[in-house]
Amino acid sequence: MSHRQLTVTAVGIVGGGPAGLLLSHLLSLCGIDSVVIDHRTRRDIAETVRAGILERDSVRLLVESGASDRVLTQGHEHAGISLRFEGVSHRIDFQALVGESVWLYPQNDVFVDLAETRERDGGDVRFGVSETAVVDITTDQPGIMFTDDAGVPHEIRCAHLVGADGSRSICRMQVPESKRRHYFREYPFAWFGILAEAPRSAPELIYTHSERGFALISQRSDVLQRMYFQCDPDEDATAWSEDRIWAEFQARVAGEDGFALQEGRIVEQMVLGFRSFVGEPMRYGHLLLAGDAAHTVPPTGAKGLNLAIADVRVLAEVLERAIRNKEPDALDEYGPRALARVWKAQHFSYWMTTMLHHLPNAEPFDTRRQIGELTSVVNSVAGSTYLAEAYTGWPGER
Ligand code: PHB
Repeated sequence: MSHRQLTVTAVGIVGGGPAGLLLSHLLSLCGIDSVVIDHRTRRDIAETVRAGILERDSVRLLVESGASDRVLTQGHEHAGISLRFEGVSHRIDFQALVGESVWLYPQNDVFVDLAETRERDGGDVRFGVSETAVVDITTDQPGIMFTDDAGVPHEIRCAHLVGADGSRSICRMQVPESKRRHYFREYPFAWFGILAEAPRSAPELIYTHSERGFALISQRSDVLQRMYFQCDPDEDATAWSEDRIWAEFQARVAGEDGFALQEGRIVEQMVLGFRSFVGEPMRYGHLLLAGDAAHTVPPTGAKGLNLAIADVRVLAEVLERAIRNKEPDALDEYGPRALARVWKAQHFSYWMTTMLHHLPNAEPFDTRRQIGELTSVVNSVAGSTYLAEAYTGWPGER
């Protein structure tokens, strides 16, 4: 048995997805050392298909911090979305309503840019580790134990330990049960997601309400498209032929305007379950939780990655104050500031989800009421401004 190799750093970060890497990058800009570990390989993370919409402030942080300039050259600015119901599309014009846009830039690319940036800057990031354990979070020297990809055991000791280890977080479980509260909402449906080699069917995203259930027409590039339709959580993705998938999509978006999707070869198909979750507090002792480790949202509001980035923005600021300015109380601000946005995003994601999906035991009343709700949004400046403000991201931390 070889000796554990000891590394001492200011901030130990469990999770090398966008949240963990962005935090490590922002800390390095103010001269604070960190070590990031992840049990997945760099390639696994880069190849996992995730969501694709970045809020204006997420883009700004990635660009201004020097983490990604590709988002501006390869990403696409979207100045609105369409809500489609009863076979008619209604555009929500973000620029006209709130003077903002979002960017279509897949999370995989955000990860690739951040991993390259950390590598370029000599950041200590270790992918593909195993047997990870988090220890001593209530002491002054919390630690992370792991075995690296060559089988060598390691120990990291740090002043602050960040759990950015996703929805199956091991760090979250370090908060004693009596000190934490977990809030859940399960939904009785899932999304059937595809990647298809086809041209765009529309310039912007289309969120569709139909009697057959929700559908979302998103994009990846000029030649690759991402689309989803609401399905049963137990649906078997492999049981669907291409023809059947396209017929289902076409039926959900069909309408009097004759709109139809551009079809093509389906290169990936999968069922994605989802739920709403918030774990409080986001800080316990020297442990701080960020991103999906602390909260998850249904994908309908496109908020998951953006919330992780918003957490990290606050976390980097309070860690800098705590470490460089010797202001340990700054850490007390993290949870309350992050959670204010988290709960607004929970509400927005829940609202978009329940407004657009077909609930399994819905009665005709429920469906007609949803149409009334959608009409109140698209026919009212106040209603559509709420959607535009939430979708593009609330400015600052208000
Ligand atoms: C996506 O492109 O994957 C996507 C876009 C918007 C959403 C969810 C997913 O609300």
